[in-house]
Amino acid sequence: MQKRFEGKTAIITGASGGIGAAMAKRFAAEGAAVVISAIDPGVDEVAAGLKAAGAKVASMRMDVTKKDEVEALYDLAEKEFGRVDISVQNAGVITIAKIEAMTESEWDKVMAVNTKGVFLCCQEAIARMRKHGQGGRLINTASGQARQGFIYTPHYAASKFGVVGITQSLAKEVAKEKITVNAICPGIIDTDMWTYNDTAWGKLLGDYKPGELMAEWVKNIPMGRAGSGEDVSGLVSFLASDDAAYITGQTINVDGGLIMS
Ligand SMILES: NC(=O)c1ccc[n+]([C@@H]2O[C@H](COP(=O)([O-])OP(=O)(O)OC[C@H]3O[C@@H](n4cnc5c(N)ncnc54)[C@H](O)[C@@H]3O)[C@@H](O)[C@H]2O)c1
Repeated sequence: MQKRFEGKTAIITGASGGIGAAMAKRFAAEGAAVVISAIDPGVDEVAAGLKAAGAKVASMRMDVTKKDEVEALYDLAEKEFGRVDISVQNAGVITIAKIEAMTESEWDKVMAVNTKGVFLCCQEAIARMRKHGQGGRLINTASGQARQGFIYTPHYAASKFGVVGITQSLAKEVAKEKITVNAICPGIIDTDMWTYNDTAWGKLLGDYKPGELMAEWVKNIPMGRAGSGEDVSGLVSFLASDDAAYITGQTINVDGGLIMS
């Protein structure tokens, strides 16, 4: 694979598995030093795997909703690799509940991780990139639910629409500093999150057995398959590359054609 990120450092949150781990693998394969984080210990295993494959990698268990922990993550990147060039705000959570059952704490947690977490990481990334003066790339993981809210997830839809708002606002603020800010909207991607979705939505929408709801929804994808972390990583790698230097403030679907707007 072309080493187009040689000498660059990429921070990826939510990289203990699923989409974030695939992004870390892709950036490492393309020569970047990667700093990966997650709230669960799986992130250290992902880091060990990347290290064993020869990557430059550091990892941290942290919570993207806590400003001091976000600062510590960016400090780690600078301490280990000297700079931050690419920052992918990918950590996210979902719950699924009918409106009468949805708790205030569910609302607060989803908004805190998915929206405030993106804001805090973007804030820190921009500060570090400004200090270095060589521009940078911010990529925020939104969702198909930033295009259209799905049933039983008003908090998640609100949180991901919020990610698009953050992306557009910050893109305008930093545009003259060669820092681009873009968002991505994965569709149905086969990760642990989707396994939860399949079970939780399946229970509320009918008497679905494991995997049945996902199979039904996949039938609506024009390409006829669920996505993978690798499908998403290809887009993220492009947005982080020199080829995407003139693209900012955009929100791009990566969903096999599920949503065409
Ligand atoms: N899987 C899908 O179909 C799908 C679709 C659209 C968008 N997304 C988004 O993609 C991103 C990755 O999802 P995934 O499918 O890989 O899910 P996942 O559940 O496999 O991974 C979520 C990651 O977020 C981390 N995380 C959760 N709370 C955190 C916190 N407070 N602080 C730091 N890290 C935290 C977890 O540790 C984990 O690494 C999420 O933002 C999700 O909303 C996923």
